[in-house]
Amino acid sequence: MTKDTFYVTTPIYYPNDKLHIGHTYTTTAADTIAKFKELQGYETELVTGSDEHGQKLQKAAEEHDMEPLEYINGIVKTFKDLWSTLEVDYTGFIRTTSQEHKEDVQQIFKKVYDKGDIYKDKYEGYYCTPCEAYWKERELDEEGNCPDCNRPVEWMEEESYFFKMSKYEDQLLEFLDENPDFIQPAKRRNEMINFIKDGLEDLCVSRTSFDWGIPVPIDEDHVIYVWFDALISYLTGIGFGSDEKKYNNYWPADIHIVGKDILRFHTIIWPAILMAADIELPDQVFGHGFLTVEGGKMSKSKGNVVDPIKLVEDFGVDAVRYYLMREVAFGTDGSYSTEAFIRRLNSDLANDLGNLLNRTVAMVEQYFDGVIPEPGPETDYDLDLKETANEELTAMAEDMENLQFSTALEHLWTFIRRTNKYIDQTTPWILAKDEDRKDELGTVLYNLLEALRIIAIALKPFLPEAPAKIWQQIGIKSDLDQQSWSEVEEWGLLEAGVEVNSGDPIFPRVDIEEYFAKQDEMKEDKEEETAEMTEEDKITFDDFSKLDLRVAEVLEAEKIEDSNKLLKLQVALGEEERQLVAGIAKHYKADELVGKKVLIVANLEPATIFGTESNGMVLAASNDEGELTLTTVDQDIESGSKIE
Ligand code: MSP
Repeated sequence: MTKDTFYVTTPIYYPNDKLHIGHTYTTTAADTIAKFKELQGYETELVTGSDEHGQKLQKAAEEHDMEPLEYINGIVKTFKDLWSTLEVDYTGFIRTTSQEHKEDVQQIFKKVYDKGDIYKDKYEGYYCTPCEAYWKERELDEEGNCPDCNRPVEWMEEESYFFKMSKYEDQLLEFLDENPDFIQPAKRRNEMINFIKDGLEDLCVSRTSFDWGIPVPIDEDHVIYVWFDALISYLTGIGFGSDEKKYNNYWPADIHIVGKDILRFHTIIWPAILMAADIELPDQVFGHGFLTVEGGKMSKSKGNVVDPIKLVEDFGVDAVRYYLMREVAFGTDGSYSTEAFIRRLNSDLANDLGNLLNRTVAMVEQYFDGVIPEPGPETDYDLDLKETANEELTAMAEDMENLQFSTALEHLWTFIRRTNKYIDQTTPWILAKDEDRKDELGTVLYNLLEALRIIAIALKPFLPEAPAKIWQQIGIKSDLDQQSWSEVEEWGLLEAGVEVNSGDPIFPRVDIEEYFAKQDEMKEDKEEETAEMTEEDKITFDDFSKLDLRVAEVLEAEKIEDSNKLLKLQVALGEEERQLVAGIAKHYKADELVGKKVLIVANLEPATIFGTESNGMVLAASNDEGELTLTTVDQDIESGSKIE
C-alpha cells in the first residue's frame, strides 16, 4: 500500500539580505506541519528556496561590486545555515537560477504563449524597483511614491509580454466558490474575491529594462517577470519536468504557507497561471499574519530587526521555535518582544514541562531505585488524567489540521499542567511513607512517566531537541524517531522494569533582569569600542604591539567553490602550517601564489568564511580603482619571521 503524501511549501525568499525572525516564522510553521504530518504517517515534502532574479537583486549585487550570482551565493548560504540552525528539514531547496528551474519556467511560459494566453504589447507606468511592480498614477501614495513601500517610483515604458489574467476572472471566482477552504484564514477570502470582482487586468510578465532573469523562450530580448518565475518553484521543487513519478505523487500541493503580503500572488495570479497551463491547482493557501516589533514593522533602517540566530544562541532552538508557534494565533498579526519570549520560556518550558520531568524522574529514583514500576490499581485521579490526555491530544490534532499551532500547543499544555496537578493531588511523598500503598505509588509514577512519553512524541514536530532528552531521561529504549501519532493516542505503552536516567534540567530558567543587564553591558562595550576607534585615530605603541605580523610562505592555493573573490591558502610560518581565506581571487590566480612570501596578521581571531576556516589575514595594498597587490618582503627571509 502506498502511503498518503503531504506537500507543503514556504515562499522562496529574496536573497538581498539575511533573513529575520519574520521569515523564520513562515518556515518554522511549514516545518512544524510537515513534521506533524510525518508523525501521522504521511510521506512528506517541504520545499523552500531563494528567489534570485529581478532588478532589485541585480542592483544589490552592483552596489557590492559583485556579479549577481556571486553576491547571491553568499546570502543563500546564510539561508541554508539559518534553516540548519533551526533544524528545519526541507526536502527541496529551489534556487530560481538553477538550470532545472529555468527549464520549467520556460516550458510553462511557452505553453501559455502557444495557447494564446500571452501576447506582446507596450507597458507604461510608474515602476517601483524594490517591489518590482508597476503602478498607475492614481494608485501612488500622497507623495507620489509606491503605495506598498512608499519609496520613489520611476516612469517607465517598455514593450512587454502580457498574460491574459482577465480571461480567468470567471473561472477563478467559480473555483473559489467550489473550494471555500482554498484561501485561509477564511477572513482573507472575501478580500481576494472582491479584488477579482473589481476586475483583473492582464499581467505584464516580461521585462527589457534589465537582464537578470530567465529569458523569454520566444524572445531573448526579454526576461520573465520575477513572480511568473518564482511561483513555478513550487512545481520545480516536486520534480515537474524532471521526475514525473515524484511530481505525480505530490502535486497538487497540500498547502502553500505564505505571509499575508503575498496572498494575492498566490490566490489569484498563481491559480490563473496554473489554469492557463492546464495544471491542477494546489489544495490550499494559508496567509499568516506579520510579526512586528513593538507594534512596528521590522526594518534595517530602524535597527529593530530581530536576528533568529542570536535568539538561538541565547536561548536554544527549542525555545525559539516554541515561542514562534505558541505566541501568536496563526493568521493574525503579532508583536515580538524578548521579554514575552523569556516569560514564555520560563513559564511553559522551564516550569511546566521541565519541572514535570525533573520531579518525576527524581521520584522514580527516590522511591523505586530508578526503575519504572508496574502500574497497579487505578483511582479516579488516574482515570481523569488518561481522559484529559485523550481529549487534549485529540483536540491538538484537530488544531494541527487547521494549522492552529498556538491552540494545538495550548491543548498539549493543558495536559502538561493537568499532569503537574496530578502530582499535587496524588501526593506521592505521602504514599511513599506507607508500605501498603506502594502499588498506588507505582501507578502514579508509571502514569507520570507515561504522560511524559506521550508529551515527548507530541512535541516532536515543534521542538527538535527536548523530546530526545525527555526520552533519554525516562529511560525508553526504543527509537524516538520510529514513534508515530498512533503511539500518542494509546495509553499504557511504556514498558515497566526499565531504568530512568536523571539529567540536567532541559530548560534552565532565564533571569529576565540579568539577561537585559548583560545585553546592555555588551552594547555599551561595543559602543565604547567604536567610539574609541573613531575619536582616537592614532593608536598607541601598545595597540600596535598587539598585532602579530609575520612572513608566511604560500604552500597551496585553491579557489573556494561558488565564490569569485575568495581563495583558500595553506601557508607556512616556520614549522607551523595554517589555513587562510583571502579575498584576492580577482587579482591572483591560485597557482601564481604558490611559493610567494606574503605578510599576514597571525593573531586574528579565527573566522569561518564561506564555510572555510580562516586563521589569520593576508595583507595587501589596494587603491580606489580597485587594483590590489599583495605585500611582501624586500629580500628573502625565512617564513615565520616577525614584522616589527
Ligand atoms: N520572493 C517572494 C516570494 C516568492 S514565493 C513564490 C518574497 N520574498 S520575501 O523574502 O520578501 O519573503 C516574504 C515572506 O517572508 C512573507 O510572505 C512572509 O511569509 C515572510 N515574512 C517577511 N517578514 C515577515 C514578518 N515581519 N512577519 C511574518 N512573516 C514575514 O516575497
